[in-house]
Amino acid sequence: MDKQVTSTRIQKDMELFEPFTQTPGQGITRLPFSIEVRKCVDVLTKRMERAGLTVREDVAGNLIGRLEGSEPDAPALVIGSHFDSVKSGGNFDGMAGIIVGIEIVRMLRDSGTKLRNPIEIMGTHDEEGMRFGTGFFGTKAMMGEIDDEYLLRLKDSDGVSLYDAMICYGLSPDKIKDAARDYQKEIAAFIEVHIEQGPVLENSGTQLGLVNSIVGMQRYLVTVTGRPDHAGTTPMDMRIDAMECASKLISRMSDWAKEAGGEGTVATVGFVQAAPNAMNIIAQEVIFSVDVRSKEACRIDQIVGNMCAELEAVCSEKGATFKIDEKLKVPPASLDEKLLAMLAKSCCKLGLSHMHMPSGAGHDSLQTAPKIDTAMVFVPSKNGRSHCPEEWTEYSDLANAAHLVYDTLVSNYTHSTSKEAHF
Ligand code: GLV
Ligand code: MN
Ligand code: MN
Repeated sequence: MDKQVTSTRIQKDMELFEPFTQTPGQGITRLPFSIEVRKCVDVLTKRMERAGLTVREDVAGNLIGRLEGSEPDAPALVIGSHFDSVKSGGNFDGMAGIIVGIEIVRMLRDSGTKLRNPIEIMGTHDEEGMRFGTGFFGTKAMMGEIDDEYLLRLKDSDGVSLYDAMICYGLSPDKIKDAARDYQKEIAAFIEVHIEQGPVLENSGTQLGLVNSIVGMQRYLVTVTGRPDHAGTTPMDMRIDAMECASKLISRMSDWAKEAGGEGTVATVGFVQAAPNAMNIIAQEVIFSVDVRSKEACRIDQIVGNMCAELEAVCSEKGATFKIDEKLKVPPASLDEKLLAMLAKSCCKLGLSHMHMPSGAGHDSLQTAPKIDTAMVFVPSKNGRSHCPEEWTEYSDLANAAHLVYDTLVSNYTHSTSKEAHF
């Protein structure tokens, strides 16, 4: 199979999605349940159908294109990643994995290869959690982990619930349980190709990363409430300053992450909003996000424990109050060793350099890994940049990933290889 052809086809497809952004000229902003997502999904549907897939949208808004295998009752091999984005991110985070999946289907068609198992290319919805402060909505729904309470409880910054956002987008939230799959019967493996989003592959000159673990994640939205008063006339010991309390806590987060130690342990406050947000009024309310990650759940718990204790101490000293909303709690995951071994074997066969590595970013694979055999392939990111408009990955590197996964599927999931098959 000609790698130049693969690379050119991937580039053409990737470029189709650049216009679907809420921030033209300032990177890709494709928030879930938006018009831009709908337009993106429409084009994705056409590309999938053109590659020969039968396409459906599930109740969560995930897009699933399916090609039957030679054994109709065999569980599917799902290749997927997300089509939503962060605010002013790049065009590769998520989309690259879907487009590489579609290219693999084209490669199977061109070579006249039929797999034993059906193959499904999945575009997942609301992986980033950008609008509702959560994460992995589409894959959570697929795993049967979303209920009505979740849809009604989570609200975006305009107060729109996930439930109402689904209705505006044309989905039926009351049927959310229909998105759940009988994954033990229906899905044999979940494979996600993704850009690395860090500098390790590029710096070491390695073509592909085989991900062996993904950090656990917890996300919170903290609200500190004080009292709005005159900034000039209220003495320092007579104010209930929400900003003073919040900033004391925020300034400790990175110390706690360093103290907790361990691999992949990080804590980030990336969102802060003050009210009334005026120069000469003491802040009545400060809302901020907390995102904590580590390869070990106990280190995340330690940081979150410190945060809760400090909030309690600081707020009670000042007479302020606080509220902590948990938005996401996912334990760390190990990826499937059998799939990793198959991928490593194909790397060697194809002469592609590879390394095993952990992921500090969250992915749909983090959500699937505890219950479905899951593997991830990383492709180098230019200068390690991601979640910014400068995000870039060479199309030829994406083609390497397509060839790797194609070879792994053909080597392990066709009839001629059925003795080696692992299920
Ligand atoms: C998603 O990209 C995340 O790691 O937050
Ligand atoms: Mn991302
Ligand atoms: Mn991503």
